[in-house]
Amino acid sequence: MHPLETLREEALAEITAARDEQSLEAVRVRYLGRSGSIAAWGDRMKTLSKEEKPVVGKLLNQIRTQVTSAIEQRDAGFRAEKEAAALANIDISLPGTPGERGALHPLHQMLERGIGIFRKMGFALADGPDVEDEWHCFDALNTPADHPARNEQDTFYLEDGRLLRTHTSTVQIRTMKAAPPPIRVIAPGAAYRRDEVDATHSAQFHQIEGLYVDKNVSVADLKGTLEFFMRELFGKDTAVRFRPHYFPFTEPSFEIDVRSKALKGGEQWIEVCGCGMVHPAVFEEVNKARNDSAYDPSEWTGFAFGLGMDRLAMILFDIPDIRLFAQNDLRFLRQFA
Ligand code: DAH
Repeated sequence: MHPLETLREEALAEITAARDEQSLEAVRVRYLGRSGSIAAWGDRMKTLSKEEKPVVGKLLNQIRTQVTSAIEQRDAGFRAEKEAAALANIDISLPGTPGERGALHPLHQMLERGIGIFRKMGFALADGPDVEDEWHCFDALNTPADHPARNEQDTFYLEDGRLLRTHTSTVQIRTMKAAPPPIRVIAPGAAYRRDEVDATHSAQFHQIEGLYVDKNVSVADLKGTLEFFMRELFGKDTAVRFRPHYFPFTEPSFEIDVRSKALKGGEQWIEVCGCGMVHPAVFEEVNKARNDSAYDPSEWTGFAFGLGMDRLAMILFDIPDIRLFAQNDLRFLRQFA
């Protein structure tokens, strides 16, 4: 046996015999280190004859590779043993620490249901800012300067004369300014009033505004649309009542009440919506702003509505107090998770 082969046998035997990573490292240094025995053979190569050199060189390379890979294997074995030992102390069948799971706010759930129903009827979503100017909130909606809604006692005004919109009807105007008829949109969002806060009034509340402008739109379309909505939301046996009312921006105007045995409120009528046929004066004001006559009232008619979303959610989920929506009380919110 060539002395190099003897060296290999020794090295492999020592690697197998190593009990831990430290003793394995000692073996590595002894054989492969800079002053190790295999390195020493590398130095000795220079002194060998021409005939011996290639034979020994080849053998030396072979042995270096073999010893290196044997050490790597043994080392991997040690690491696997260590990991297995560490894992043995962990009970992987123990339940984890659960993170708290969030859920949608009941108003948001109400919103998604509402949007879903109007989607079925082909309504698209429209949007507008909460901070508005008086023109979009009042003037364009045929609401005169002496209307009580414009009173400082009733509305939140900013220093610059803008205001927090008192209703989502502002989006009707923004939508018509931006595009010619036909229009079929809903605009869900917040509205603000300086109401005395109590169980049914909040300074911030939410509405789903609706606007449908086309040729030959009539009260029958308005009635059919909102009756369908209420029955989808509250159940087939929901009765819907249209009461004559007044809004500056619609003519005729109605308020809608619903009543259903399925509702916790029982047999009483509950008011949920204002609506009507878009007033020609609103179309004219939009035309002025657009600088055209796209909304010619002799050609186009439309209906509009404003649904009280908080009210709908209170009925749907049997919530007794509107203030609960904004108090962030987890005992309340968890019931809708
Ligand atoms: N903007 C009204 C309110 O906040 C509700 C309303 C009534 C909206 C009639 C409409 C409508 O679009 O046609 O009380």
